[in-house]
Amino acid sequence: MTAQLIDGNALSKQLRAQVAADTAALKAKGLTPGLAVVLVGDNQASQVYVRNKVKACEDAGLHSVLEKYEATMTEADLLARVEALNNDDSIHGILVQLPLPAHIDAQKVIEAISPAKDVDGFHIASAGALMTGMPGFWPCTPYGCMKMLESIGYDLKGKHAVVIGRSNIVGKPMALMLLQKDATVTVAHSRTKDLKALTLQADVIVAAVGKRNVLTADMVKPGAVVLDVGMNRNDEGKLCGDVDFDGVKEVAGYITPVPGGVGPMTITMLLVNTLESAQRALSEKH
Ligand code: GUN
Repeated sequence: MTAQLIDGNALSKQLRAQVAADTAALKAKGLTPGLAVVLVGDNQASQVYVRNKVKACEDAGLHSVLEKYEATMTEADLLARVEALNNDDSIHGILVQLPLPAHIDAQKVIEAISPAKDVDGFHIASAGALMTGMPGFWPCTPYGCMKMLESIGYDLKGKHAVVIGRSNIVGKPMALMLLQKDATVTVAHSRTKDLKALTLQADVIVAAVGKRNVLTADMVKPGAVVLDVGMNRNDEGKLCGDVDFDGVKEVAGYITPVPGGVGPMTITMLLVNTLESAQRALSEKH
């Protein structure tokens, strides 16, 4: 193995300790940061994700509430719950777990969340703030990737970054964050003609497709930084990313593992955003 590992568990531990310390300081001033997590239906993966999010809040001293509803909940009832949480002063972050049942318009629900409490960063106001460089909440997964690059002291200025995937949650915001740090950014996707020709030029590659072996060793320039956002299962049922880790680790300069890479960083940045929201709420009161 030539690549150095970027350990998401270790970095998360460090950042969550800072969140815990800042939360304690905020509590001493009389304000406890609060996150509301809303889960509709019984999607198995979502149940695990929300449990982990609530537990991470508790571990760092934040207040959290988990609201669970039947899959039959109406869109109107969910919108009413979001509105109530918008008006609840003990709540600084609202997260509606996706996917939502098909009869509910997810975008409509996201737009109902107050941008001031949009700690997922999915509201169009948050997306617009990121695009224009205004203050706002950044989506947690790409934000976590940026923290990982920061942790290795990586200077993105003038570097070529290739983002594979163009989702609203990861690919597009990732590209904007890299651009903000002066990288030259290429966004590749399922219709891209010659992915390998692009990735071979890349100093940084972010794989965020949700498919195994999207990036293999022959596609990576020696020394490149490889961030793997994928969460898949291999033939043995083991968790794996989008990157062929065993092959790529022999070529890359840095690589994130799956599990233990980007995954824990997503929840960490949710805590960071919720704390930040509470800090903003306090400074607005003074
Ligand atoms: N479903 C999968 N990832 C996420 C996430 O980061 N936030 C929300 N709200 N739902 C998700």
